[in-house]
Amino acid sequence: MEGCACEEGCVGYCEGCVVMDAIPLARTRLGEAEHSAVGRVLTSGRLARGPEIAAFEAEFARFQSQSHACSIASGTAGISVVLAALGIGPGDEVLLPALTFVGSVNAILACGATPVLCDVDEESWNIDPNDARRRITSRTRAILVVHLFGLPADLAECARIAAECGLELIEDACEAMGAETSLGLAGSVGTAGVFGFYPNKVVTTGEGGMIVTDDRELHERCQAIANQGRDQRGHFVARGHSLRMTELGAAVGRAQLSSLAPRLRERVEIAERIAASLRELPVRLPCGTSRARSWFTFPIVLPDGSQRSRIVEAMAARGVETAPHFPALHRLGAPYAWLEPEVHTPVAESVGGRLLCLPLWEGMESVHLARVADALREALK
Ligand SMILES: Cc1ncc(COP(=O)(O)O)c(C=O)c1O
Repeated sequence: MEGCACEEGCVGYCEGCVVMDAIPLARTRLGEAEHSAVGRVLTSGRLARGPEIAAFEAEFARFQSQSHACSIASGTAGISVVLAALGIGPGDEVLLPALTFVGSVNAILACGATPVLCDVDEESWNIDPNDARRRITSRTRAILVVHLFGLPADLAECARIAAECGLELIEDACEAMGAETSLGLAGSVGTAGVFGFYPNKVVTTGEGGMIVTDDRELHERCQAIANQGRDQRGHFVARGHSLRMTELGAAVGRAQLSSLAPRLRERVEIAERIAASLRELPVRLPCGTSRARSWFTFPIVLPDGSQRSRIVEAMAARGVETAPHFPALHRLGAPYAWLEPEVHTPVAESVGGRLLCLPLWEGMESVHLARVADALREALK
């Protein structure tokens, strides 16, 4: 192992040395606001269905310029609740990109509908609207558009197809908190948008998610399904689940949302610096390092023929955590192999086989960026 790059003259990854601490893929910045939010809830003694949930939903809806927001236990649960609330179930087909996190497809499977995988665009890695159009049948009910790695998909074209073909347009905006499109913020364009708040995301509640919509009836059905099928008066109006967020999660989410604007700006700056530090390397960088993208990780595409698992291991040995995200859904392993479409999705398969996510988090310093670039350079040799 080479000597440490810090000024202390240590060898290897020295303990307690900021410079050489392992660099995680994601790191949540939790400050005074989050700590006092948790304290406020504990002091109140009210841990469920209280004022923090109500306030978080109102503040989130306002941020997204939507009439309604429904908090939920996870992003995956949010997508499946929206589908169920739209009456989508067995016998119905839902189009989605073949390249996405498994939660997108698990949500469709959870409500009994059939996922139909579409290819993605070579540049954006988001759903290719032309390919989606070709896969529409008489059973298609919805397009689940995913804004992969925080880059908004082609919403204008997807909305056009949905309107022409009488389909619902649902946005999986779990990775795209704060991303801007010409039609509004990601998540606020379709019939409903869903966000995920896992700790690798820009806004976190630990576990959790949010559904936003302008459709009051849809919102009320989502609320009921997430709350054992009961409406606000306690009447049973749907088949339900128990998928509520906690007061603690909502309080943390409010603190995270209130600091969002500067944090998004910091992430854009870090992404731009990472891109600059990798410019010489033979990897494909994500398109668009501008404000239009929300950055929760930094995805790259490795050169053809690279052994991704070897690169992950080599970087881990240098103290840099990476993730081989995401393979195409039908390449995830036996439980998902049957999803393989008859008409192939070559771009999703090719990009998905070579994607590698690099660390990106608030507070990353030049020394971290240099170590990530060095580790990648060495691993590619
Ligand atoms: C594209 C996408 N869809 C859905 C989800 C929902 O995930 P979770 O159920 O873990 O909140 C996520 C992830 O975190 C995601 O990245």
